[in-house]
Amino acid sequence: MPNRTLLIAGNWKMNNDVAEAVKLADELAQALPEVPAGVEVLVCPPTIDITTVHDRIQAAPIALGAQNVYWEAKGAFTGESSCDMLKSAGCTYCIIGHSERRDYFHETDEDQNKKAKALVAAGLVPVFCCGESLEVREAGTYVEHVVNQVKAGLAGLEITCPKQVVVAYEPIWAIGTGKTATAEDAQEVCGAIRETLKEMFGEELADGIRVLYGGSAKPGNIAELVAKPDVDGALVGGASLKAADFASMVVKAGE
Ligand code: 13P
Repeated sequence: MPNRTLLIAGNWKMNNDVAEAVKLADELAQALPEVPAGVEVLVCPPTIDITTVHDRIQAAPIALGAQNVYWEAKGAFTGESSCDMLKSAGCTYCIIGHSERRDYFHETDEDQNKKAKALVAAGLVPVFCCGESLEVREAGTYVEHVVNQVKAGLAGLEITCPKQVVVAYEPIWAIGTGKTATAEDAQEVCGAIRETLKEMFGEELADGIRVLYGGSAKPGNIAELVAKPDVDGALVGGASLKAADFASMVVKAGE
């Protein structure tokens, strides 16, 4: 089996003002002076906190990402940030396609595709989220649904190295609900995502692309999730807001 570096990524969502972000970033830097071999750590604060968090974690082995980006380079796009702006603030990753953006802000697969391409062109790594609603899960068409999201969102992406993109499977019914998908559920869909990535990018690249699970991931379930062959880490919401919990997930993933 290919030796993929696990990725434990925190999505702070719309939490933490600047002072709170400083506190959490300092606690994380203190809790994670080093990370276990084979594990990479990423935090994605709100855009307003990115510069501050960058200053606080730059000496720590913690990468920085944004939660959103716009694909145009600059201009009259009120409220948006470009890839180069994120890069200049210290980001190396950016979450795209989160179900909250798809649902509340009406973002489409086409939007995700433009974002993914702009990020890769700028040398940033998209963390492309996909996942089904409870309705789709219960209808039994969830694998097809997620595979279609991946095909549309990452179509035509030009990558030459597997580390240029990350995929995160986040079943909507498991986000913030405390209802985690079982490790078997996660593996079923993450495995199907990998097969799709093989069709799209070829076996060698797809074997190295990290596929994460997200949805009520926490210290108590991270070990069984990453024990699955196609689950290469987690995109963590709630538990990433507590330094001790997040640090414990990083340690457990590395065991
Ligand atoms: P929770 O970990 O709070 O369920 O959130 C998951 C998520 O949406 C991460 O992007």
